[in-house]
Amino acid sequence: MSHLSVPPMSASPSSGCRLSKDHLIVAVPVAVVAAVGGFLVSQYLNRRSCKKGQVNASVCKDSPKVVHSFDMEDIGTKAVYCRCWKSKKFPLCDGAHTKHNEETGDNVGPLIIKKKNA
Ligand code: FES
Repeated sequence: MSHLSVPPMSASPSSGCRLSKDHLIVAVPVAVVAAVGGFLVSQYLNRRSCKKGQVNASVCKDSPKVVHSFDMEDIGTKAVYCRCWKSKKFPLCDGAHTKHNEETGDNVGPLIIKKKNA
């Protein structure tokens, strides 16, 4: 048989949960720093990556749909269009797919439209 010594409990239910002014002086700044830090980390992580499933990270993000249209007569003999969504000249390819493929192991490339003898 063991003999454990249990300290007497107070009859007042609130007496065990009281925070002193000294506790609040430490706890409030820690809570504020934790909340601000958590917010900043979540913002950073959201900016680093697209929402799950999105392929467009930067092109016309204020538009509900990215659409470009060209007349065949205006294309000339050859046009190279981006399909990786990384081009700074979107919708035209600027070669950014090469870096994307190297970094990710992907195999994306442009759409090339040309006249038969070009
Ligand atoms: S830059 Fe996107 S396909 Fe070339």
